[in-house]
Amino acid sequence: MSDISSANYDETLVPSYTLPSPLEKEDGSFVSSFQEWESSQRGKVLEIVKKHLFGELPAAPEKVSCQVLAEKEVFGGLGKRRVVRLTFDGRFASGINFDLLVYVPNGTAPFPCAIGLNFKGNHSVEADSDIPLPDYFFPADELSERGASHGRWVPEYLLERGFALVTGCYHQLMHDEADGAKKSVFRLSVPQETLDTAQHGEYTAISAWAWGLHRIMDYVETLPEIDSKKVMVSGHSRLGKTALWAGATDTRLSVVISNNSGCGGAALSKREFGETLDFMNRTFPHWLTPQAKIDEKAVQAMPYDQHFLLSLIAPRALAVASATEDLWADPKGEFLGLVGTNSVYALCGRPEIAASPVPQGGDSIDNGIRHYHCRVGKHDITRYDWEKYLDFALRFWERA
Ligand code: GCU
Repeated sequence: MSDISSANYDETLVPSYTLPSPLEKEDGSFVSSFQEWESSQRGKVLEIVKKHLFGELPAAPEKVSCQVLAEKEVFGGLGKRRVVRLTFDGRFASGINFDLLVYVPNGTAPFPCAIGLNFKGNHSVEADSDIPLPDYFFPADELSERGASHGRWVPEYLLERGFALVTGCYHQLMHDEADGAKKSVFRLSVPQETLDTAQHGEYTAISAWAWGLHRIMDYVETLPEIDSKKVMVSGHSRLGKTALWAGATDTRLSVVISNNSGCGGAALSKREFGETLDFMNRTFPHWLTPQAKIDEKAVQAMPYDQHFLLSLIAPRALAVASATEDLWADPKGEFLGLVGTNSVYALCGRPEIAASPVPQGGDSIDNGIRHYHCRVGKHDITRYDWEKYLDFALRFWERA
């Protein structure tokens, strides 16, 4: 039973482990072409990740309406910012809102676009009292000052680089708490009594949040100013796990970014370094499916590891990033998770990433379709990370 202070941070205590191959078929033979991966094996790997980690996403809504509540020029004319409300109706509930903050550059459209969920509400992205405060449940200890997360989004920097940006708060999709599913977007497609009596994790938060990213993508597709072939989904930490799951389940997202996603994200669990699935399941019982609630000893026998999730992004672009002080998320394990996608990217003729040397603080690798960098510093997403992601995405789209 590890926690953040007693977790293993000693590389010499990492057990020797064998990673299952995402290319190994049920009969023990191996997939040999990308066509075979896409037509059958990819679906099997997706089912494994669904069964063992994140469960099913909520069904798509039956009806969505969209209201632009406000629009203004921002950052001295760099672009426009809109406050947009999506409202969903489903089979079992209606009138469920999802509020978005939308930035669009001034200049010649269509623009590439970054999408992602935020932790602390749309009002945390920029210190401007015109951005409404949340009118939905919001945990008091998370209610931050206006603009408190500005450094994590740097909207003016994205506009300067010609990127649109769309974000919404994850709590509005499902409160990040054990019983969150009862009041979540799952209500649209699952009867309330079923949610009220479900075990924790039967309807996972990470799937509810990933569903929200898909709805942002639906919305982005309606905007003539945005090039919907150039949409990058990103997320930090638990929302990095979410960005990976959203990217794995929606191939419209052409670039997928995992920032410090750690355990259940890019980091290999079989390394048993930093956070473990066992810790995660005890602390956040609503994030992962009951099938994931395994004993620590069962980790080496798991039929998958996180490179299965990452491999689902191929042949699209994938970036993974770590931070030197973020040992809880296991930087080396995140890098090796990315290396674990080599066999699938090789099938589509893409170069491999060598397992060593392991990148250290300040290093980055970018082979045109996969990227890794390790920032010097703490668990966070900063302008430095955005610079790398935007460069990577632009280069990928240029050559695609
Ligand atoms: C906790 C959790 C991590 C998660 C992180 C975050 O540290 O154990 O798995 O990534 O919170 O979302 O900030």
